[in-house]
Amino acid sequence: MDVYDAIISRRSIRRFHQRPVRLDILKKCVNAARLAPSAANLQPLEYCIVNDKTLCAHLFEALHWAAYIQPKWTPKETERPTAYIIVLVKDTKNPYYERDVALATENIVLTAEGEGLGTCILCNIERVKIKEVCNIPLTLAVDSVIALGYKAETPVVEDMKDSVKYWRDEKETLHVPKRKLEDVLHLNRFS
Ligand SMILES: Cc1cc2nc3c(=O)[nH]c(=O)nc-3n(C[C@H](O)[C@H](O)[C@H](O)COP(=O)(O)O)c2cc1C
Repeated sequence: MDVYDAIISRRSIRRFHQRPVRLDILKKCVNAARLAPSAANLQPLEYCIVNDKTLCAHLFEALHWAAYIQPKWTPKETERPTAYIIVLVKDTKNPYYERDVALATENIVLTAEGEGLGTCILCNIERVKIKEVCNIPLTLAVDSVIALGYKAETPVVEDMKDSVKYWRDEKETLHVPKRKLEDVLHLNRFS
C-alpha cells in the first residue's frame, strides 16, 4: 500500500474480528517503531507485544474506549482487539519523549494499516493495572497502548462542521469529523 493511501485510509478501529494477528506482523510493527525519528537519537522507548489470550482479556479491563460515545461504550466480547502493543518509556525526564512516542506510534499504526490491520491508540488507560498484568518493571513507564486486530468496522470521515465529536449513526457506523483542508492550511501569509 502506498504511504499516502495508508495515511488517508487509516481510522481508529474499535471493533475487530477474532482472527489472531501473526506474531511476525506484530514484530514488524515494533520494528517500524524502533526505526522512527528520535530526538537526539536517544531512543527512550520500549515495546511489549501482548497476544496471549488470557493476558489480552486482563489488559482489556484496563482500557477505556470512545469517550464521546454515550452511554459508555466498550467493544463486545466478540469484537475485542486480538493483540496489543504497549508503548513504554525508560526515561520520562527526556523532554522530547512524547514526540518520540507520537512518531513511533504513527509508524506502528501505518505499518499495521499496510498489513490490512486496524488499530486504536489508547491513552485513557489504567497504567498501574497494565503494569501488573504484564509484570512491567518499575524502571519503565507505561505511556500508551495500541490495540490491533482485523477490522470489523469501517468508520467514515466527514468535514467537521460545529463539533469535533465522533458519533455513531443508526447503523452503528462511526462518523469522524475532520477540519477541512482550507481551515488548516495557510499559504505564504495570513491575510
Ligand atoms: C494520543 C491519543 C490518545 C487516544 N486515546 C484514546 C483512548 O483512550 N480511547 C479511544 O477509544 N480512542 C483514543 N484515541 C483515538 C482518537 O479518539 C481518534 O484518533 C480520534 O477520534 C480521531 O479518529 P481517527 O483516529 O479515526 O482519525 C486516542 C488517539 C490519540 C492520538
